[in-house]
Amino acid sequence: HSVGIVGAPFWKGQPRAGVEEGPDLIRAAGLVEKLKGQGCTVKDYGNVSFEEVASDEPIGGAKRPLAVGRANEQLSNAVSRVKRDGHTSVMLGGDHSLAIGSIHGHASCRGELSVVWVDAHADINTPLTSTTGNIHGQPMSYLIHELHSKIPAIPSFSWLKPCVRAKDLVYIGLRDVDPGEHYILKDLNIKMFSMTELDRLGIAKVMEQTCDHLFSKGKKPIHLSYDIDALDPSISPATGTPVKGGLTYREGIYITELICQTGLLSAVDMVEVNPKRGRSEAEINSTVSSAVDLVLGCFGRRREGSHPSDYI
Ligand code: ARG
Ligand code: MN
Ligand code: MN
Repeated sequence: HSVGIVGAPFWKGQPRAGVEEGPDLIRAAGLVEKLKGQGCTVKDYGNVSFEEVASDEPIGGAKRPLAVGRANEQLSNAVSRVKRDGHTSVMLGGDHSLAIGSIHGHASCRGELSVVWVDAHADINTPLTSTTGNIHGQPMSYLIHELHSKIPAIPSFSWLKPCVRAKDLVYIGLRDVDPGEHYILKDLNIKMFSMTELDRLGIAKVMEQTCDHLFSKGKKPIHLSYDIDALDPSISPATGTPVKGGLTYREGIYITELICQTGLLSAVDMVEVNPKRGRSEAEINSTVSSAVDLVLGCFGRRREGSHPSDYI
């Protein structure tokens, strides 16, 4: 695997400071060295340096629209550069509003994508259905073709064109979905495996059906958008919007192993690690090291072990 890392130290898609420390913390936990240790080629593109925005009043149900719009435009350019250079992109957030730029940049280089969204939340509110105004709860609505007419025009997002079809999106891990979001998921017939389906089927069947669903529409490059709050807060408590009853560490890792095995993984987001939300060093470490392990799972780490092909 050849991996290109882009850090996105950005928090303004939600109100809690600290999530901008995610990229450097994940690096400090040895991500690059560990990827190299499992045989990957790694290029670290560093952190995007986001422009300061002076005054940024809400527009309708979207808070800090200028900062979030501009940051995602910068991130889109950064990710499309990584893709043009031929790497699998790894975007380290930052909050989940960054999926807008990451997916857009990926699609602008690779065309139609499959998106696997692993999260406690659906993040598909429109500015009109959102009750918080936080754009990290809205990114998918900006990206989906079928919702385009429902999104009010926001000048700082004028660069953004929808680039994902509703049929090419699969959710895993949902357990905190707003009514407006649930309406959209049902209306557009979006494939979702909430924690209820996960309990019923088990993670192996969920991944089998995820792959069946995506591949039945033709094999496209996969964009895996992983919110660390998909995992249970007992493993990853240092995040802004934890929700009980999440994925076990093993289920979380299994998802990455199966996505890796498809051979189609083309970009990964690892978002919402927020050290300021951890109540102890141990809580922060557990969250960060889980994030690292999930990325390693995306790039060939196997729990059974492995050895180089020239091993004597
Ligand atoms: N649904 C809520 C909202 O719209 C919470 C979203 C949480 N999103 C996240 N990326 N953690 O604000
Ligand atoms: Mn979430
Ligand atoms: Mn999310």
